[in-house]
Amino acid sequence: MEKRASALDTLRSLGVPHIETELEEETMADATSGKPTVLVTRRLPDAVHDRLMRDYDARLNPEDRLYTKDALIRAAEGADAILPCHTEHFTEEVFASLPKSVRIIANFSVGYDHVDVAAAKKHGVVVTNTPEVLSDATAETTILLMLGAARRAGEGERLVRSGGWKDWSPAFMVGRAVTGKRLGILGMGRVGQAVADLARAFRMEIHYHNRARLSPDKEQGAVWHDSLNDMLPHCDFLSLHCNVTEETRGIMNAARFALLPDGAVLVNAARGAVVDDDALVDALESGKLFAAGIDAYNNEPNVDKRLIALDNTFLLPHVGSANRETRDAMGFRALDNLDAFFAGREPGDRVA
Ligand code: DGY
Repeated sequence: MEKRASALDTLRSLGVPHIETELEEETMADATSGKPTVLVTRRLPDAVHDRLMRDYDARLNPEDRLYTKDALIRAAEGADAILPCHTEHFTEEVFASLPKSVRIIANFSVGYDHVDVAAAKKHGVVVTNTPEVLSDATAETTILLMLGAARRAGEGERLVRSGGWKDWSPAFMVGRAVTGKRLGILGMGRVGQAVADLARAFRMEIHYHNRARLSPDKEQGAVWHDSLNDMLPHCDFLSLHCNVTEETRGIMNAARFALLPDGAVLVNAARGAVVDDDALVDALESGKLFAAGIDAYNNEPNVDKRLIALDNTFLLPHVGSANRETRDAMGFRALDNLDAFFAGREPGDRVA
């Protein structure tokens, strides 16, 4: 009962009354069942929620509101694990303040740039992610961005919806072809390879830059460039699929945009941090880039207003993995990692 009282105090201190009532019953269970307690920061798909509730004592966020840093730390009081998304940030400061009871952060995401991995290791917290299960969904979104940007889909949609479409002519809304063009992929991991597979249906010539060259069965005729700068002049389309590291942060800067062929198309379904927004806006305004298709931004969800103002951007709200099958699979993968950890096994997707 002591645990229950302290958990409810924590919830009250969040100052979010709706959480208190909805969580009270679950927190009761948490005090009595002996199951590990998991703080779940965002609303999960139904099937994942059901499995979570069967196997864990969960602290939920039914209204799916973004936690502040302080509220997250308070809500974790007494929890054994946190199941967050990329919307929560685990910096050194957060790790230093997290209750010592928290032993694992099982992310609902493949990207984990929102977690300071060195700080996690220092504080003895295990970190996992959800690779593989979202590669196809993200590749689909990448092709959507590529087509949307090249064929001016956003502009066309806005025109029709606004009632501004008045006429047709051979010169009307002319975009760029995708079929048969050269596609450069920065980061040829699982998502990059899935994008290459789909792009082959458009008879695209695939180039890639990756630290290591792929084996011929994975490469499937794609051209490896051992330096990004060498690849860029060959990219009618450039699609970014690298992780955010100190090396890749802002990697697409003004000097690198200048190396692309005139009228290239940039696609980013990875993370905004790999692009320098000032350089991107300049390249779009000058026509160096014909267009950009973007699903991931710096400072999400506050998208740079200059990108919103431009007609030659096709913008999605970070929905790369957003289909039901994929979101279920991501949640199950996060739970698999928790299950392994609490059964005393090494979680399959441990990154720290
Ligand atoms: C991922 O899994 O990294 C997606 O971007 C959603 O966070």
